Amino acid sequence: MLLNTELAMHGAVKAQDRRTSPPILLVTKKGSKQLIVDYYSKRKMAGVAVGIIRGIARYYHESDRVKVTRLTPIGESRVQIKVDFT
Ligand code: HEM
Repeated sequence: MLLNTELAMHGAVKAQDRRTSPPILLVTKKGSKQLIVDYYSKRKMAGVAVGIIRGIARYYHESDRVKVTRLTPIGESRVQIKVDFT
């Protein structure tokens, strides 16, 4: 789901209504058990992104298998988030 958010979700939001400006999320797969989420938005809401990632894990009953780590300071317009799966 995280790998497809940019194209399938935020991309679709933007395509349907040009007034919206969802954040740009560049999600890169590092091996089979790690994702790097590169967040960019002038709104500086990467803290919300961390909460959404944890919320999705909880929804799928994967909280104990998913570890979310902030790699760079959270209050910036560009933030890197690491997601490890065990
Ligand atoms: C079901 C999937 C998703 C949908 C339908 C969705 C939709 C949206 C919409 C409609 C907005 C408001 C855009 C605007 O008003 O301009 C938004 C903002 C946001 N989304 Fe998503 N989103 C989804 C998944 C995610 C995921 C997986 C993340 C994080 C990894 C995320 C992070 C954010 C953040 C942080 C914002 C706040 C705006 C900003 O930072 O600029 N979203 N999203």
